[in-house]
Amino acid sequence: MDAETIALVQASFEKVAPIADVAADLFYTRLFELDPSLRSMFPADLTEQKKKLMQMLTVAVRGLSRLDDIVPAVQALGRRHAGYHVKPEHYATVAAALLWTLEQGLGPAFTPELKAAWVEVYTVLSTTMIAAQRDAQTTTWVAMAKAPAQPRALAAAGD
Ligand code: HEM
Repeated sequence: MDAETIALVQASFEKVAPIADVAADLFYTRLFELDPSLRSMFPADLTEQKKKLMQMLTVAVRGLSRLDDIVPAVQALGRRHAGYHVKPEHYATVAAALLWTLEQGLGPAFTPELKAAWVEVYTVLSTTMIAAQRDAQTTTWVAMAKAPAQPRALAAAGD
């Protein structure tokens, strides 16, 4: 990611930060409009979730110029998402909701150039998360395959 992309994204995010609550509301409303089946994955009360999402985006956007430092945190976030039943294809829906939110929040300042810069940032984050999520699932499946069968299951099978 080049310095210009990073600077563009960081400057635009500073403009969204003061309206973080509104932006988070817009984001989740749009997300569940795009795919209502995602609603049940989240708690009924989204207050905490909204804060966490904006905090994480803040860390990610500020950390863009030293991406290597934030990769482990993004990987850990991806592994936790396996536990939330998130599938790789869900990332495209979240991307669409995020871009739409930025467009609403920034208006004409959300130029095609800025949109391309955000797409690049989201692609880096989501690719890192999905890869870590896949690794976590593969590790679990390999461990399950290697684990000795439970005695009770064996007894049942022998009847
Ligand atoms: C770049 C993409 C994403 C970022 C930065 C992100 C960020 C976060 C953060 C910070 C949390 C708080 C919990 C934690 O830290 O483990 C979280 C939870 C969660 N995320 Fe994401 N997320 C992303 C993509 C997605 C996608 C694609 C989905 C699928 C719909 C999703 C669904 C969820 C769910 C269901 C929870 C748990 C809610 C709960 O039970 O409290 N996220 N996410």
